Amino acid sequence: MKIVMLGAPGAGKGTQAKMIAAKYDIPHISTGDIFRANIKNGTELGKKAKEYMDRGQLVPDELTLELIMDRFTNPDCVNGYVLDGFPRTIAQAKALTASLEAKGEKMDFAIDVDVPDENIVDRMGGRRACVACGGTFHIKYNPTKIEGKCDLCGGELMIRDDDKPETVLNRLSVYHTQTQPLINYYTEEGILKTVDGTKDVNKVFEDILEILG
Ligand code: AP5
Repeated sequence: MKIVMLGAPGAGKGTQAKMIAAKYDIPHISTGDIFRANIKNGTELGKKAKEYMDRGQLVPDELTLELIMDRFTNPDCVNGYVLDGFPRTIAQAKALTASLEAKGEKMDFAIDVDVPDENIVDRMGGRRACVACGGTFHIKYNPTKIEGKCDLCGGELMIRDDDKPETVLNRLSVYHTQTQPLINYYTEEGILKTVDGTKDVNKVFEDILEILG
């Protein structure tokens, strides 16, 4: 099963993508996580990506496409994947569709996690991410059992560099101009499904499972 997660920054794409990946035993592929791992490891790609990410802008398509196309060649993708944060521009979506068509494949579902802008700043302000495993929590909506420690691996929790309020507003504006058009793109492809992302995490997941069947 091949799934694309759509939605504003902080809508809960990553939270739901991890749950879908565990349920269907397919990889969760997050371009944001791959860029952050490269930044942490000090790679050339990470240095280039950081310049854009810290400003809340998108990393250029050519860098992103090279990275993701390479990821698809990994054997763990053979039964599908759940994409989180990719595609993010019409150019990326078209490149993805073309690369699937070249293999006689297609995307099965595009799931839009719909959350209004006014909820987003609150979500990102309270987000805490594990330095070690990337687990994502929220101080109010999804708190860890022990404050500051990851429930999954015990690692330290941190605030992401791009979760500062001024960067969040820029990310939202970039989302509306460059990524939201993908909703029409996947509507036209006939695979768009929308879930109400303002419900609690488990309820959103139930709604997604109903769609995936
Ligand atoms: P990326 O890492 O993809 O960030 P994003 O899309 O901005 O999304 P987030 O990770 O911020 O949010 P999310 O929707 O996954 O929400 P989460 O589940 O964490 O990208 C970062 C940057 O990398 C981009 O700005 C760009 O520069 C670059 N980049 C990445 N991909 C790229 C691409 N393809 N092309 C170009 N550049 C690219 O949830 C948020 C919080 O809310 C958490 O605290 C969570 O616990 C909480 N929460 C989740 N669900 C709920 C709920 N139902 N109720 C209450 N709280 C909830």
